[in-house]
Amino acid sequence: MKDKLEQILVDATKEINNAESVQSLDDVRLKYLSRKGELNSIKKNLKDLSDEDKRIVGSLANTVSNQLEDLIKNKSEELYKIELDKKLENEKIDITLPSDFRMQGRVHPLTQTINEIVEIFNGLGFSVMASENSPEVETEYINFDMLNFPPNHPAKDMQDTFYTKVAPNVILRSQTSGAQIRQMLNQKPPVRVISPGRVYRCESVSARKNNLFHQIEGLLVDKDITFADLKGILNEFIRLYFGSSRPTRFRASYFPFTEPSAEVDVQCIMCGGKGCRTCSGTGWLEVLGAGMVHANVLRNVGIDPEIYSGFAFGMGVERLTMLKYAINDIRLFFNNDNRFLNQFRL
Ligand code: DAH
Repeated sequence: MKDKLEQILVDATKEINNAESVQSLDDVRLKYLSRKGELNSIKKNLKDLSDEDKRIVGSLANTVSNQLEDLIKNKSEELYKIELDKKLENEKIDITLPSDFRMQGRVHPLTQTINEIVEIFNGLGFSVMASENSPEVETEYINFDMLNFPPNHPAKDMQDTFYTKVAPNVILRSQTSGAQIRQMLNQKPPVRVISPGRVYRCESVSARKNNLFHQIEGLLVDKDITFADLKGILNEFIRLYFGSSRPTRFRASYFPFTEPSAEVDVQCIMCGGKGCRTCSGTGWLEVLGAGMVHANVLRNVGIDPEIYSGFAFGMGVERLTMLKYAINDIRLFFNNDNRFLNQFRL
């Protein structure tokens, strides 16, 4: 049995040294050291030996077993390291190779226009109104009545305005002008703000109209404000937004909340003023509405029109973007087609 044990030590040591993988090393361990392994079968036969031999063979068996375990442990660490190195080598990546093309997100063209216009008006001394003064779900009272719309004004008609089921007089705002009211209820003059936001109109969608679009409202109220101030600010805005070479004109118009009221046109970008389909032959394109804040509106918010005066203006963001980039269909802004959006890089 002693010889047998020595033979096991020699054989097992050789097999351990020859093992080429963690797996084959484990096979060697099972063969010699497991419960059904060769060392254990010798230990089982110890009972047949004399006490003296039992002691000698038993202790030798333990020594062999400990020695083999040490050998296996060392070999296993060695093999593990080799296998890890091999794996690292195989899975090596070349970080200098060019990477896959990834699509990058961009700022939506409407957001770009809003940012650009906000920046222009910041430069002219206007700040952006706090959003709580400009909710999209609004009361008819603020959206129309406080803005001096007569009770049966056609704009209130179901055809134009989305009514909600929240309460009879709660609507999706049809214009950002209500923000003027909320601002003036919360701030006494001087007031010098703009407010960009979404508005909603119940009309059928076409190349020119969507039932959701964006407006930017502007309001300036102070002492001694005249129509000349309005003209100066808006001319400057148009010069900065469209470039200095674009002629503009002011045309008398009507809005319930301004008096006098005007619409501002820029020369048609398609035909340069000669008259074409885009400008319906007039040579001009309307870009915004404006006027001196109506005395009734000032009174409604508790501002004395004998002391203060002001002007307001409102412009469509989609329209301004379309005019600048010669876009012929408003729906392009809402379809999220990358072929369109990718053309607007920052
Ligand atoms: N709210 C008007 C609209 O939606 C636009 C407008 C016109 C706003 C004149 C104004 C203004 O502040 O003074 O058609």
